[in-house]
Amino acid sequence: MELSFRHLVSASQVTRPDADFLVERAREMEEAMKDRNAFRHVKKYRKMFRDKCVASLFYEPSTRTRFSFERAVKKFGGEVMTADGFQFSSLYKGESVADNTRVIAGYDIDAIIMRHPHDGSAQEAADALDEYRLETGRHVPFINAGDGKNEHPTQAALDLKTIQDECGRLTGLHVALVGDLLRGRTVHSLSMLLSLYEGNHLTFATPGLLRLPGHVKDLLKARNVSFDEVNSLEPALDADVCYMTRSQNERSKQGWSLWERWKKTLRYLFQKNEIEPQFTLTADLLRGKNTVIMHPLPRNGEIATDIDRLPNAAYFRQARNGLPMRMALLSELMNTAKQENESDESYGWRRAA
Ligand code: NCD
Repeated sequence: MELSFRHLVSASQVTRPDADFLVERAREMEEAMKDRNAFRHVKKYRKMFRDKCVASLFYEPSTRTRFSFERAVKKFGGEVMTADGFQFSSLYKGESVADNTRVIAGYDIDAIIMRHPHDGSAQEAADALDEYRLETGRHVPFINAGDGKNEHPTQAALDLKTIQDECGRLTGLHVALVGDLLRGRTVHSLSMLLSLYEGNHLTFATPGLLRLPGHVKDLLKARNVSFDEVNSLEPALDADVCYMTRSQNERSKQGWSLWERWKKTLRYLFQKNEIEPQFTLTADLLRGKNTVIMHPLPRNGEIATDIDRLPNAAYFRQARNGLPMRMALLSELMNTAKQENESDESYGWRRAA
């Protein structure tokens, strides 16, 4: 089967067959990596990545996403070129994401992975690569590795595999998403993927004002997903999965409505010592419960370290799923690009002179 998308910008592009296929392919990658001999079945991909170069553009800090993507390319024998940090790229001089991406693609780059602090930058980059394709006839797939507070679809894909591994299914689950849901992009993308599976109920647990943005709720409503919003941690403790997130304090408050800002100011004036509220999970709270605990990491005190050894603490297994899932995604998108670029039809994309 072939994925229904050519660039991965948003989890809302992913269909149920895409999601099932990616989870399955990631499992195959994982199995293949357990045994070096078995890895030969991905030899065709090794060959496919030979002489191929992936640009890894991280204009915002990253450990897991960047390392797992770059390792995925290298596992397949490909080359990686990295742009590290905003201040060392032409973006610092005021270049647009569109120009930057299009120029980089032109250096015989075969796929572009980008993380950027602005919402919507991923769409801008993908559109620029479509323009590049119109100009040159060559398709360069784009993968969003996190755009501002908006989305992080590849994290959501590996989260989906983790839920399947831990719970044995993706349907009929109660999944609680906890923390800074306003600015936590992983939750936006994961809710979209969970909405593809029937019978799931989502509980969004937020301290204070950090509620899920309206556009994500609208998508869930349009897909008839059952969900509720609460202001306490307790309901999350009895869910099948409790997905914790950190407070994204480095993000600006843009995107907060005037009313939210006004409420925040009032609170600040009347409770002088108020700090950004946060829920903290401790082993005591989890006693007697087997709720699967997930977190995209990095954590910032939301999960006490005494939970790490509990069998239901899944966040390090979750992080490890980044490699097989990103191998699956990259190999599929690059395989499609290769076929399209080698077929005569791809020239149909060339803009008439
Ligand atoms: C997340 C991110 O960058 O959005 N981390 C990740 O990719 N694993 C979550 C975060 O930064 O809090």
